[in-house]
Amino acid sequence: MKILKTLFGCLAGAALTMNVSAQEVQGFVHQRSTDYEWPADQQVLNKLDKWQDQKFGVLFHWGLYSVPGIVESWSICSEDVDWISRKKDLTYNEYKKWYWGLKDSLNPTQFDPAKWADIMQDAGMKYMIFTTKHHDGFCMFDSKYTDFSIANGPFGTDPRKDVARHVFDAFRQKDFMIGCYFSKPDWHCEWFWNPYFATPNRRQNYKKDRHPDWWKNYQEFTYNQMDELMTDYGKFDILWLDGGWVTGDDVNLDKLLTKVRTSTQPGLISVDRTIRGRNENYQTPERSIPETQLNNPWESCITLSNDWGWVPNAPYKSPAKVISLLAEITAKGGCLLLGVGPTPQGTIEEAVSERLHVVGEWLKANGKAIYNTRITPVYNDGNVWFTADKDGKTIYAIYALPDGENLPETIEWTGNIPTGKMKMLKGNKTVKYTGKDGKVKVTLPKGLKNEPVALQFTLKK
Ligand code: GLC
Repeated sequence: MKILKTLFGCLAGAALTMNVSAQEVQGFVHQRSTDYEWPADQQVLNKLDKWQDQKFGVLFHWGLYSVPGIVESWSICSEDVDWISRKKDLTYNEYKKWYWGLKDSLNPTQFDPAKWADIMQDAGMKYMIFTTKHHDGFCMFDSKYTDFSIANGPFGTDPRKDVARHVFDAFRQKDFMIGCYFSKPDWHCEWFWNPYFATPNRRQNYKKDRHPDWWKNYQEFTYNQMDELMTDYGKFDILWLDGGWVTGDDVNLDKLLTKVRTSTQPGLISVDRTIRGRNENYQTPERSIPETQLNNPWESCITLSNDWGWVPNAPYKSPAKVISLLAEITAKGGCLLLGVGPTPQGTIEEAVSERLHVVGEWLKANGKAIYNTRITPVYNDGNVWFTADKDGKTIYAIYALPDGENLPETIEWTGNIPTGKMKMLKGNKTVKYTGKDGKVKVTLPKGLKNEPVALQFTLKK
């Protein structure tokens, strides 16, 4: 036993160093779909409208990969690309064995979802999405369809072993909109990666027409798990399906949505990301922001560090950077879903909560320029991003302060000519401006804190 532990210790240590590259190299990125189909269900439309008011959410990635602090799931996928790295002196099979064995080490004794919810509320976030199952197939919920879950490892004797349930409930208590992340591909399921064959890439490792029974078993298993989550885990707003190389049609998503939208989950927003069409109710550009404003519902998912899951010594983005992303995304009509990885012990790192607290403080003073706003035709000039109240008459200008720069004495833009008074949202102070020949020049009061500034004014007819 001791030898095994020592060996495990070495391997885990090696994993820590070998995957540092995961922080530097950007992983596989799902692109935004190019067209959008408005849902026909009025309840879905209503929920989408409500969701578009929230603007700022968190996406947790938590699973086996959090134990050594490596790239989420992908290291067991045998694709020869830079961003998937493994320890070089293990064969692929040895490596997979080691990875699957991480289930015996995930024991988050400090797991406190109420604390997570406090931190994210303090950050000004309004919705939350949690990884119930990532591509590696390890379930962070007590699924009745597999033993490969956190409820069967060392945490299995803990009353909080049905981890996802506790996460969802903690955020429901704080009135967050709730999203369920679920990966359609499952690399642990024998009906997706069948042990009879090698596993050369992310797809199922056999021909569907030669093994229709395997495929059918996989479809049923996946359907059942989605149904289990949507039936037994309380109310959800969003079902966020990842792994676009398997489609919703592959796993009977239409049938599931029809069932749950008429029973447990009226108005459920389906995000069959990158698949397009009726079950992709909003688009999800990843680690990027669309070039221009978009009229349909969308969300940029962007990591706070460089990785989705927890990795040691992560280089976190600054609060001003997060605010800039939020300003740009809001001005273009989207929501920001910020990726945060809880530690293997079940905590949120202080480096994360400290940064998010600063973002939250800014939002307390300036949130009117973000929440519940809608897009306005002239939405950007340089570092200035514009949003509008739903009536379209009150306009907000947000000066997104670039990292390492000081606030200028004056802010200028073209278009969006104000009439009457202009105020800074923080402190409600009136500011001086001139508006001439289509150009606006605002003089900021002296001695302001070096942080992004939000201004409110009425548009001149
Ligand atoms: C990508 C990655 C996946 C990650 C997701 C989050 O699709 O493949 O690992 O969970 O992005 O947006």
